[in-house]
Amino acid sequence: MFKTISMNKTHALFLLLLLAVMPSFAQPPMQGGEWKASDGKHVNVHGGNILALGGTYYWYGEARSHDGKPYSSLGVGLYTSKDLLHWTSRGLVLPVSREAGSDIEGGCIMERPKVVYNARTRKYVMWFHLELKGQGYDAARYGIATSDTPAGPFRFVRSGRVNPGGWPIGFSLPDTTDLRHQLLFPELKAWWTPEWRTQIERGMFFVRDLEGGQMARDMTIFVDDDGKAYHVYSSEDNLTLQIAQLADDYMSHNGSFVRVAAGGQNEAPTVFKKDGVYWMITSGCTGWAPNAARMFCAKNIFGPWKQLPNPCRGEGADKTFGAQGTYIFELTTGRERKLFKGAGHVFMADIWNPEHLSESRHLWIPVTFEDGVPVLRK
Ligand code: DGJ
Repeated sequence: MFKTISMNKTHALFLLLLLAVMPSFAQPPMQGGEWKASDGKHVNVHGGNILALGGTYYWYGEARSHDGKPYSSLGVGLYTSKDLLHWTSRGLVLPVSREAGSDIEGGCIMERPKVVYNARTRKYVMWFHLELKGQGYDAARYGIATSDTPAGPFRFVRSGRVNPGGWPIGFSLPDTTDLRHQLLFPELKAWWTPEWRTQIERGMFFVRDLEGGQMARDMTIFVDDDGKAYHVYSSEDNLTLQIAQLADDYMSHNGSFVRVAAGGQNEAPTVFKKDGVYWMITSGCTGWAPNAARMFCAKNIFGPWKQLPNPCRGEGADKTFGAQGTYIFELTTGRERKLFKGAGHVFMADIWNPEHLSESRHLWIPVTFEDGVPVLRK
């Protein structure tokens, strides 16, 4: 009898000890754990970006419904923080519309919003990937909204395809006149034949979309040191990236753009600049499932862009640690850098939960440099 009781006591003690150390085993919020905001709920902004303004951080992103329908967008949500760790929900800064026929009518898909500040107009400008209600992912449009204040509300301005009728830098009509006809050749309808790949590189899908404008799906906005801003997006059926410069007020494209990594199937573009070099980290195209990140660098935003090996290192590197990038946030203060191992930038990524997108987790990894190239270690 005595023996049994002492065994139970030992068990109880062990259990207590285990419970005491348990929290240290739980994943920290920035490393894919549940990230509870001040309302006690997991932070429901995904695919977004952060703006630092006068001591406050504004975290914008896709707000998804909790009802289990994977694609249901509520709109663009905002959380604010004073320390990058504790966040307060500020609700929807651009909700989907109740107005029938609106481009952002409820049922549409709003993804990967990025908000930037335009010093000339003193407006906050939001760009996002928009798919129209009932059309799956076929519309492939950008959307723009604007606000006088970072906390919104943002006013939806318009949506569209990119640079209709426009030719990218280094491309010309004579080089591509035959390409429209190529689309009709049956052998080129077989994807991934060497001939098909060659014609993709030559711009077969680019030419297909010339009149109506280029497709724009996964995207980011990069603002350069000189204030010029660029829309970086997956185009041409997600096969080719494009980088299009914005007008000075950030409210439209200015017509200058390039095609990057034609036929390379890149999504989730993220861009940063360090010591005059532009770095871009992207993913492959596997829906919501993670894959290996890709990396490119260039001395000019319009290229040429050179592809480098996967920047991820260590266990899980072949799947970006289960995540997909959304934004690279520059760390400017000593306190910010201390939070991320002294790094100058942090790679923000989403661990998607396609069954419940609102529950998708956040993975923020410092961008460190090894042998002169960016490295991501979880
Ligand atoms: C991968 C993209 O990166 C996401 O933003 C989303 O569009 C999914 N594909 C949809 O399958």
